[in-house]
Amino acid sequence: YGDYDFIVVSNRLAVDRVVVDGQSDWRRSPGGLVTALAPVMEHADGAWVGWHGAAGEPLDEFDHSGMHLVPVELSAREVELYYEGFANATLWPLYHDVIAPPEFHRTWWDAYRRVNRRFAEASAMAAAEGATVWVQDYQLQLVPAMLRQLRPDLRIGFFNHIPFPPLEIYAQLPWRQQVLEGLAGADLIGFQRPGDAQNFTRCVRRFLGAASRQGVFTMTDENGAERRVEARSFPISIDSRHIAELARDEEIIERSRQIRHELGDPTTLLLGVDRLDYTKGIPERLKAFGELLEDHRVSVEDCTLVQVASPSRERVEHYKTLRDEVESTVGRINGTYDTLEKTAIRYLHQSYPVEEMVALYLAADVLLVTALRDGMNLVAKEYVAARTRNDGVLVLSEFTGAAEQLRQALLVNTHDIDGVKNAIVRAIHMEPRETARRMRAMRKQVLEHDVKRWSSDFLSALQERR
Ligand code: G6P
Repeated sequence: YGDYDFIVVSNRLAVDRVVVDGQSDWRRSPGGLVTALAPVMEHADGAWVGWHGAAGEPLDEFDHSGMHLVPVELSAREVELYYEGFANATLWPLYHDVIAPPEFHRTWWDAYRRVNRRFAEASAMAAAEGATVWVQDYQLQLVPAMLRQLRPDLRIGFFNHIPFPPLEIYAQLPWRQQVLEGLAGADLIGFQRPGDAQNFTRCVRRFLGAASRQGVFTMTDENGAERRVEARSFPISIDSRHIAELARDEEIIERSRQIRHELGDPTTLLLGVDRLDYTKGIPERLKAFGELLEDHRVSVEDCTLVQVASPSRERVEHYKTLRDEVESTVGRINGTYDTLEKTAIRYLHQSYPVEEMVALYLAADVLLVTALRDGMNLVAKEYVAARTRNDGVLVLSEFTGAAEQLRQALLVNTHDIDGVKNAIVRAIHMEPRETARRMRAMRKQVLEHDVKRWSSDFLSALQERR
């Protein structure tokens, strides 16, 4: 047995190993999973098992910003087959409504199984007797069953941070049954939306033949013993209070003024913040903004769009083509509408520390979230948490998990470019009273339902299962 009573397992650790000027250093990892889980783990006694982002570098366990981190090593080849291949060119597009066509390769699947086993073994080594192990996300769907085999004494939870697709789409996966069996090794399986949990339950009924009632189904182990597994939604959130605190910090407020000034004090500042991912609807957003400029409904004289697109999965083909598309579109729009003094779009292919992000949220009059499909979208929740004065408008895609909670946003169907354009114009001209009414309601939601509540809801439901 290992030392830890509580273990989180995810593909990526909260920090990535990076080399800056020949010196190796740690940097906060990108994405919603880490945004949500880091604050949970900073306040929990436990260990976080995951990959440290560098290929082929074995590392010992270490402590970082109040967390105990247990690195799992991946070879360069495994990064290619398991991470870039099966996780991000098979599962990611399959689970996001096949926005990009998923690829099915047996060599990728073999690597996925191998790597999942390594994560299961690392977790089994770290877990104390009867410990709780909480496995995260689509990269590790086989871990629950593998871990249960190694350590039947453990309480095992799984949370899927991305959507779970409808049965008709999931059915394409050649290994659909094995993946479901992997997940069903958990006692409790959490999803973002009730719809995701329903999709999953339907797949379990169809492909595992398990009977289910209200999200609880029965699995029979090899020795004939029955076990109950529950699938339910637990919408994830952020450390809302921490973001709100940063938004009240004088230095950050000053920085937000400076940002507007550096941008030439536009009357309206629109903001987009995403990983550069084809699920985020960045081309659609740019198209809508470009057409508004063309129609003279907005002008470069008084309106600027800042688009932060942080680098992501850069060696995967669809991410490369997306980057080319986004960068040529930004170039074309700016080339057409910029003046020597003003620019239509400030495009930043970079990532920033949270303090700078909060300054940007404070600086922006409107946040544009136009994902084509998104498990939750925590950027939307961060923007809301940062708007401590109840101003600012959120334009939010219906296809995000967040849209089920942030009902007072201006909800849009991203595919409907005219609808997106109208929502942007409406956001720009919204009366302060309406803005405040909407933002106040959303702030209440985000402050009451923060990530601590998410994790304690999940963990107490897991406690009740066994
Ligand atoms: C999403 C996924 C996470 C992932 C993150 C960043 O939020 O749900 O599991 O870690 O994107 O992607 P990356 O591939 O860089 O880990």
